[in-house]
Amino acid sequence: MATILIHPDTASATRATAERLLATIRANPAAVLGMATGGTMEPVYTALIARAAETGQSLAGLHTFNLDEYIGLAGDHPQSYRTTMDRLLFDHVDIPHDQTHLPRGDATDPATEAFDYEAQIEAAGGIDLQLLGIGANGHVGFNEPSSSLASRTRIKRLARSTIEANARFFGAGEQVPTHAITMGIGTIMKARRLLMLATGNGKAEAVAAALEGPVTASCPASILQFHPEATVILDQEAAAELKWRDFYEDIHPGGQEVYFADRS
Ligand code: F6R
Repeated sequence: MATILIHPDTASATRATAERLLATIRANPAAVLGMATGGTMEPVYTALIARAAETGQSLAGLHTFNLDEYIGLAGDHPQSYRTTMDRLLFDHVDIPHDQTHLPRGDATDPATEAFDYEAQIEAAGGIDLQLLGIGANGHVGFNEPSSSLASRTRIKRLARSTIEANARFFGAGEQVPTHAITMGIGTIMKARRLLMLATGNGKAEAVAAALEGPVTASCPASILQFHPEATVILDQEAAAELKWRDFYEDIHPGGQEVYFADRS
């Protein structure tokens, strides 16, 4: 079972996620970090930039690998995940750009690009800490329900509900991508540690299914139950449907993990 940390509010959950990233970087300035995009992560990156500046923590030794990228969007497209990550994080810290990796959405051969991306992660020594959001349908990365639990980086069709949810980032009349290159569930499971953040009541059902339901390809995030080092940070709304919520709050009051400092 994952370590489940329920915070009093969204700001606290977000801050705790950023602090945990920072603690990982402090412990290993050459860490390989798996990054995620999506609305949930935006305040995390804002907090990480601020805390890195306040504490004088350099990010120059890191290597990062993002979970996914839309197929059909060049890296300089305003809605590509490459542009988004540069705007939200990479342009504001001292990590060299060539140490930040995302699949190339405009690769002429996306299948080969996906295969090569997996190999690049391996060549970097694997991911030390993978940051994850969760889709309202239980997806992680763009591994939609029915994705193989052993899958590796590959092309995935996005579910209609995911395309609709992502449409908010695109202008009226703009084509929302229907396919992505995404790390597979097997790729994500190879990361040494997983850190999931979910906030807001739109995630409550998926969070309960992932943490307390059966491990099933119908809810890809449920695979976290099989990871030995998974931490899930929630706000009150995202935790609302958890059956054993009282228990998690007894173990970690206010979302505090007593032994966190020792494990970072
Ligand atoms: C994005 C990603 C997705 C998002 C998920 C939640 O890189 O991998 O799995 O984490 O769709 O997105 P938000 O945070 O926008 O609700």
